[in-house]
Amino acid sequence: MDQVPSSTNQRGSFGSNIGFLLSAIGSAVGLGNIWGFPYKMGKCGGFTFLLIYLALAVFVGFAIMMGELALGRKTGLGPVNAYKAISKKFKWVGWLAVAGGFFVLTFYMVLGGYCIYYVIINLIGIFGGMPDSSSFGAMITNRWLSIGITLLFFVICWAINRGGVAGGIEKFNKIGMPALFVMLVIIIIKALTMPHAAEGLKFMFVPGYATKVTEFGQFVESTPSLLSILATAGGQMFFSLSLGMSAMITYGSYLSKKENLPKNSVIIVFADTLIAILAGVAVIPAAVANGIAQGLSVSEIKLNGPGLLFSTLQDVFHNMGALGGVFGVIFYVLVLIAAISSAISVIEGVAVTFIDRASAKGREPSRTRAITLTCVVLFAFSFLVAVDGLGSNNIAPWQMLGMSEEAIRNWNDCWLDFFDLIAEGILMPLGAMLMSCMIGWELKPKSFEDEIKSGSNGGAMGFWSFCIKFVCPVVMFFIVLVQVSDFFGLGWF
Ligand code: PHE
Repeated sequence: MDQVPSSTNQRGSFGSNIGFLLSAIGSAVGLGNIWGFPYKMGKCGGFTFLLIYLALAVFVGFAIMMGELALGRKTGLGPVNAYKAISKKFKWVGWLAVAGGFFVLTFYMVLGGYCIYYVIINLIGIFGGMPDSSSFGAMITNRWLSIGITLLFFVICWAINRGGVAGGIEKFNKIGMPALFVMLVIIIIKALTMPHAAEGLKFMFVPGYATKVTEFGQFVESTPSLLSILATAGGQMFFSLSLGMSAMITYGSYLSKKENLPKNSVIIVFADTLIAILAGVAVIPAAVANGIAQGLSVSEIKLNGPGLLFSTLQDVFHNMGALGGVFGVIFYVLVLIAAISSAISVIEGVAVTFIDRASAKGREPSRTRAITLTCVVLFAFSFLVAVDGLGSNNIAPWQMLGMSEEAIRNWNDCWLDFFDLIAEGILMPLGAMLMSCMIGWELKPKSFEDEIKSGSNGGAMGFWSFCIKFVCPVVMFFIVLVQVSDFFGLGWF
């Protein structure tokens, strides 16, 4: 089995199609599914949101997913070199994807560290003294702890990536993804059998229910406009599918030519959406049921962002009594697996740039060196996010620059928001918009026909060409506008 890699297969490749699929689904299923999707669905029209989300996933998500996989597989290269190989004019677009992925990771790695900590405290809690929501504040304000657990998350990811594509990434996902699914089912059963769980389901699925609920003291009276639902669903879909952050181009470059790209793309998009809905059915009813049992109204329960995952749900486990620790461990291991499988896909997408570069220069690339370099540089940025503790430790960008309190906007409230603006707000959607323009208008979809027909009957060609040419550039342009408006509080939508 263990053969000395020649310079051509030094990059590695997936051992099987199922290994590829589980790894790509692993990349897509992450924190975004667990804390973003259910809340946004509840707040943005329930089923209306779901329908719009599905339509966007079919016409935009699928097309960009297949575009990224095809680009990677056609060139056999990571983003920077793939764009370079294919179009002189667009060669810098690859850097947008690498930088976008990099900046998402700066805070994702810290959140991954938080997951490790929660597995540990719940494990200890099984033997008495179950932690509650106060652990969150204590954790984020403890700088050394935050740095330590972030570092631990880095070491885990580094070790997996260093193990190679088949020997590290694929192996982890082949065990991790089925395990995640089983754990999710256990948590769903537990959540839905709690008294008042139905209120949580209403929050998610009944149109208009959640918008009647006050949020942070603000009463949201009107149901959201169709445009704002479209905007929220678009941004969520894009992030959730790991598009525009170099992961899918890179995974595509490790895929055998005999595999079916359209079919694989459909499966990835479908699985990601399914897991997002299932995660919602586990998390929201549990949080709402526990809150009601504590005498809170639905509006008083924190159902969004890190607060949902690390304080609201920890209270749920705290109040479950003796078994709380067991469910807590199951749940946070599940979230941890989701975070690792996403993080390693983007670390790979960034590091492959160095591997491909060495090959192009005729040198023998070293995977270990590329992964280590990526992790070390990344850690320097994550360090800021970890020490900042989601803004609780007063070292946010505006504070360091001595800006006034009034100058605070959403985007620089804390380092996490600042890096998120750069990545999710600008680099990623812009990169994907340019990619669809490049494929649709400069190279023409026809030049990808061979690639798409390799392993499939090519039946998806017509649909894909239409989407990548007309639908994707327009929708992606819209998403860029929405993200910018959102982050800067401009209220355009
Ligand atoms: N798809 C991931 C999610 O939903 C997004 C992501 C992927 C973030 C990889 C970071 C790294 O959470």
